[in-house]
Amino acid sequence: MTKEATFLSTLQNNNIQSGTYTWSSPSNIALVKYWGKKENQIPENASISFTLDACKTITSLGFNRKEDDNQFSFDVIFEGKKNSDFKPKIETFFKRIEAYLPFLKDYHFTIETQNTFPHSSGIASSASGMSALALCLMSIEKQMNPDITPEYFNQKASFLARLGSGSACRSIEGDLIVWGNHEHIEGSSNLFAIKYPYAVHDNFKNYQDTILLVDKGEKQVSSTVGHNLMHNHPFAKQRFDQASENMTKLMSVFKTGDLQEFIDIVESEALTLHAMMMTSMPYFILMKPNTLKIINAIWAFRKQSSLHISFTLDAGANVHVLYPEAEKAKCIEFIKNELVAYCQNGHYICDTIGFGAKPN
Ligand code: DP6
Repeated sequence: MTKEATFLSTLQNNNIQSGTYTWSSPSNIALVKYWGKKENQIPENASISFTLDACKTITSLGFNRKEDDNQFSFDVIFEGKKNSDFKPKIETFFKRIEAYLPFLKDYHFTIETQNTFPHSSGIASSASGMSALALCLMSIEKQMNPDITPEYFNQKASFLARLGSGSACRSIEGDLIVWGNHEHIEGSSNLFAIKYPYAVHDNFKNYQDTILLVDKGEKQVSSTVGHNLMHNHPFAKQRFDQASENMTKLMSVFKTGDLQEFIDIVESEALTLHAMMMTSMPYFILMKPNTLKIINAIWAFRKQSSLHISFTLDAGANVHVLYPEAEKAKCIEFIKNELVAYCQNGHYICDTIGFGAKPN
């Protein structure tokens, strides 16, 4: 089993003065949710996600050697403007990964970042943002140690991204990604994500995700607070066991292509995530009236059309509408005619499964 020590640095050449690396890294949408973690960003249960394609973060990391090496030094430029809102999160990230990237205090970094989706869309940008930054840092490590293999590069990028934001470790590669130890998934690890290692039925190839932006406001509950609510949660153990069973069930769904069973598992996961928030102390309702209207409209349309349209949710009010590529035209028509009216300012994003981050 891979241990943390695998990712300690074996730098060879640290005489590099300056440079810049750019990566674009996508967001991802979990089918079995990660909700609840132990110390050091270790998940309570395994999760599985589709990597997205259009929703991504593009980050350039400039680095210049500096004199003193006793503190982190960096600036963040978000969508063209200097921004200090992200600094505390990045400072925490640097502290957590310093042991694995000992050059962090040797440079002043300029982090220039932008998203392809609107900033205040309520779409999680931590997954794409932290994975893009982790990849830029790995490019520096590779320059110092050119012998590292592509496999190690991706694995360590995922390991580092996890320390920035758990779900970010699932954004390095595509198209179906597993994070967290699972007894039936060979090579699965709590420390980094892996590509789903078994054959997947064609029904799931190029699956579609239309994101309906119901509420573009700031998150009501930060993910850190949210995950903490699972400590001493009355249903925590049952939830973690259920997630693990759902992973096993999805494995046979991916083999057989059973879309009905897929829908049952994925929608139940989304509603369970929200049920956990509603039954924690303090408790939250993150769905909005329009979230429920969309869910009901999807259910009614599915019954009447026999199409395999379904939904999932993150820790917020927006709805991810999922459907197979073969049913795309009819589902898009339904979304435009009946669901877009429930979106804030009519905003929605058509996305599809993607294959992971790319250097620019
Ligand atoms: C609801 O990855 O944002 O999206 O590790 O605290 O940064 P931190 O949490 P984060 O949690 C995401 C939770 C989720 C479900 C999921 O993506 O699996």
